[in-house]
Amino acid sequence: VMHKITVIPGDGIGPEITAQVLRVLKHVNAPFSYEEAAAGEIALNTMGSLLPESTLESIARNKLAIKGPTTTPVGGGHKSINVSLRQKFDLYANVRPVRTLPNVPCVGQDVNLTIVRENTEDLYAGIERMVDDHTAESIKRITYKGSERIARYGYELAQKTQRKKVAIVHKANIMKMSDGLFLKTSLQVGQEFPQIETRDVIVDNACMQLVTKPQQFEVIVTQNLYGDILSDLCAGLVGGLGVVPGANIGRDIAVFEAVHGSAPDIAGQNKANPTALLQSAVMMLEHVGELKLAQDIMAALIKTLGDANARTADLGGHGNTVTFTDAIIQNLGR
Ligand code: NAI
Ligand code: MG
Repeated sequence: VMHKITVIPGDGIGPEITAQVLRVLKHVNAPFSYEEAAAGEIALNTMGSLLPESTLESIARNKLAIKGPTTTPVGGGHKSINVSLRQKFDLYANVRPVRTLPNVPCVGQDVNLTIVRENTEDLYAGIERMVDDHTAESIKRITYKGSERIARYGYELAQKTQRKKVAIVHKANIMKMSDGLFLKTSLQVGQEFPQIETRDVIVDNACMQLVTKPQQFEVIVTQNLYGDILSDLCAGLVGGLGVVPGANIGRDIAVFEAVHGSAPDIAGQNKANPTALLQSAVMMLEHVGELKLAQDIMAALIKTLGDANARTADLGGHGNTVTFTDAIIQNLGR
């Protein structure tokens, strides 16, 4: 089956890595047709909006999108594009698989966990105000509905992927009401999955455990802010932000994007590692049931990452964005 997908190159390193990911997808004849749409600073400068209506319409029509990172200008009252997208399409589950890849130098060993981050509420809902000139408030909003569906997503994912353990990460000892509701609701959902072992871990302890013994985690279900922070921590375990993919999933729309940002420090220098976005594309192939293509790309990617001459500088390699992708395509054969 052919799928039309929305392609958002984004800002900074976004267009560079998106171009390479499309090369790989086209090389394997992935059953996609591509509709490019703008978002980010580039859209603000050329179309007058960070997230133009035409881009939203494209995603709504195609229901599948791959997105490069976007820069949200600080100040000027701009709302984060990612937060807007997630709220607009109710992409409530942010799924971030974190795995040590064979032959990629990193500090963690045998890490294989998935962070399931609630994506629409918590402190990221943008309920903020200046009380007066010297005092600001950000409201942490947690609902039963939001907690129930993210916990259910996490347990169902665990079941579907033959995982045995779910950890609920929270801070209910301090935020007794908001995190208390999240914890209580998640534990309730967990009772429907007796074959899966549930534990709850307080977020600061979770950080320590993830650094010292990450192998104990399989699926982590957590709130928006904790999930954001834990994702980067876990990326650090397995080789950095250049390698960790993600998906934003709603009831009928899914947007695939790397965990990392637009990396202005290396933008336009052909240095960025396309692995994270390529693995996000692999998640998209899996999402539409193209398992064989997903496997083939992963195999070629892993082989290429094992070659220090091919891999990019963030992984201590001698390759660049384009030559690394050349090597992946070579390893794919065909
Ligand atoms: P960042 O993730 O862009 O960069 C952090 C560090 O990781 C930098 O040193 C960067 O060079 C490196 N890095 C990131 N991706 C890499 C890759 N693929 N290959 C090699 N090195 C890589 O985070 P930062 O600097 O905090 O944010 C920069 C901008 O990105 C901000 O405007 C922020 O709002 C935006 N951002 C966008 C996201 C998105 O669109 N999904 C997510 C996170 C941040
Ligand atoms: Mg983040």
